[in-house]
Amino acid sequence: MNSEQRDHGRLVSGLFGRIAPWYDFLNHFLSLGWDIVWRKRLVRCVRLSRTFRVLDLAAGTLDVSREILRQHPGGSVLAMDFSLPMLQRGQRKIQTEKQTAILPVTADGRTLPLPNQCVDCATIAFGIRNIKPREDCYREVLRVLTPGGRFCILEFGTGRRKILRGLYNMYLHRILPLVGWLFSGDPQAYRYLAETIQAFPDARVLSSELLQAGFSKVYSFPMTAGIVQVHVAEKSAR
Ligand SMILES: C[S@@+](CC[C@H](N)C(=O)[O-])C[C@H]1O[C@@H](n2cnc3c(N)ncnc32)[C@H](O)[C@@H]1O
Repeated sequence: MNSEQRDHGRLVSGLFGRIAPWYDFLNHFLSLGWDIVWRKRLVRCVRLSRTFRVLDLAAGTLDVSREILRQHPGGSVLAMDFSLPMLQRGQRKIQTEKQTAILPVTADGRTLPLPNQCVDCATIAFGIRNIKPREDCYREVLRVLTPGGRFCILEFGTGRRKILRGLYNMYLHRILPLVGWLFSGDPQAYRYLAETIQAFPDARVLSSELLQAGFSKVYSFPMTAGIVQVHVAEKSAR
C-alpha cells in the first residue's frame, strides 16, 4: 500500500468516525427507509456451505451483520470495519439483542487479518466505493473465501431513467450535503459521499473488474429503478 492509499484510508475512517453518531438515523431518513429493504435483499444472496461463517466487510453499524444472522440463525459473522466509532455504535445494538454470533473487529478491507479459505461468503454494503484500490479488497476476499464462496456487494447505481437520473443528481449534490450538514454538522462528509457515488463504475465495468480479479462468475441486478445494485461474484468451486 503506498502513502496516497494510506492517506485515503485515514481520510475515510476519520470521516465515518465523525458521522457515526448520526449514521443510522440519516441512512433511514435520507433513503426513506429503503436501505432496510436493500440490505435484506443483499443478504438473500448469502450462501453457507462449509464454515458457516460470513465476513461482513465495511460492516459499519452492523445492520448487514444482524440481518445475516436473522436469515441464517446457525451462522456466525465476522464484522470488519476500520472505523472503531462505527463498530461501537453497532455493538450497542448487538448487546441489547445478546447477539454473540457477531464478532466486530477493526480491520482494513485491503489487508484482512484472516487465514485463507475461512469464510463461505463475504458481504459489503455501501463500502466498496470507499476502498482504494478496490483490487486489493477483491484479492483479499478471494483469498479468504472457501471454494465456490460468494462475494455479495450492495452499492449505489446511477439511476436508469433520464428524468430519474436528473432528480437523483440533484438529490446527491444538493439535498444530501444539506441534510447531512443540518444533522451532523459535516457537509464535507456528505459531499464526499455524493462524489464517490457518482465516480463509482456501472455494473458492466464492475463485473469485468471482478472477473479480472479472479472471480469465476459475476451477476448483478438493480433495485429501486437502478438507484442501487447488487453484484454477486463467485469464486471457482475448484
Ligand atoms: C457507508 S458505510 C456502510 C456501513 C454498513 N455496511 C451499512 O450498510 O450501513 C461505509 C463503511 O465502510 C468502512 N470502510 C471504508 N473503507 C474501508 C476499508 N478500507 N476497510 C474497512 N472498512 C472500510 C467505513 O469505515 C464505513 O463504516
